[in-house]
Amino acid sequence: MTTDGLDDQVIGVLGGTGAQGRGLALRLAQGGMSVVLGSRDAGRAGEAAAALHPAVTGTDNASCAEQATIVIVAVPYEGHRELLAELEPQLRGKIVVDCVNPLGFDKQGPFPIRVPDRSACEEAAAILTESTVVGAFHNVSAVILLDESIESVGSDVLVLGEDREAVDTIIALTARIAGARGVFGGRLRNAFQVEALTANLIAINRRYKTHASISITGV
Ligand SMILES: NC(=O)c1ccc[n+]([C@@H]2O[C@H](COP(=O)([O-])OP(=O)(O)OC[C@H]3O[C@@H](n4cnc5c(N)ncnc54)[C@H](OP(=O)(O)O)[C@@H]3O)[C@@H](O)[C@H]2O)c1
Repeated sequence: MTTDGLDDQVIGVLGGTGAQGRGLALRLAQGGMSVVLGSRDAGRAGEAAAALHPAVTGTDNASCAEQATIVIVAVPYEGHRELLAELEPQLRGKIVVDCVNPLGFDKQGPFPIRVPDRSACEEAAAILTESTVVGAFHNVSAVILLDESIESVGSDVLVLGEDREAVDTIIALTARIAGARGVFGGRLRNAFQVEALTANLIAINRRYKTHASISITGV
């Protein structure tokens, strides 16, 4: 039993068969959370879950959104708008955590894509008017999350949102990941540069052959 109030929460991960979704699921399950992976294919989610941790199960995205009390969105930006519009009813009344980075890649490397609502987080908030959207986990590397030889992920996580209570809940959830610390990063109108910053981190990774993340000093 912990004192963060999260013991009864069930964490859903839409697109949970991908590297980021599996990585977050693994670390949250290791931190004592129950996690449901969602996929367009329930069987694929079941297989991914079975390979991760006993506290992780898998199902289709709609059942995942229904079963979970806090839902993380971990699909590529290309599928973001359509998936959230489809699951809007199941996501009502819940905290939806968006970690989607709209990025492009060309010969010169990674770069942020300009999206109609400025950021994936603001797009989510525009679609999910009955949910509480929080941005988090944009700058945490899936490679680090999935590498069980690394005990502490050693990263700060900028948590963005309009609702202080929901932001505090996700800061507490971040603390369930060994070596991660949530730091309030502003309202959703500040999500663009957090999503875009991942392009800088990927450029760093390529140059220095590493998996960089962020660290905030002064707090
Ligand atoms: N990888 C990282 O290190 C990292 C770090 C921070 C943030 N992120 C963000 O996290 C998100 C997921 O990253 P990822 O690397 O895990 O991506 P990914 O492996 O390409 O995709 C994740 C999952 O999304 C589902 N999916 C793919 N296309 C879809 C579509 N059009 N509509 C609905 N679902 C779709 C797939 O699951 P099914 O086929 O099983 O449905 C896939 O396994 C991205 O938005 C990325 O920007 C990634």
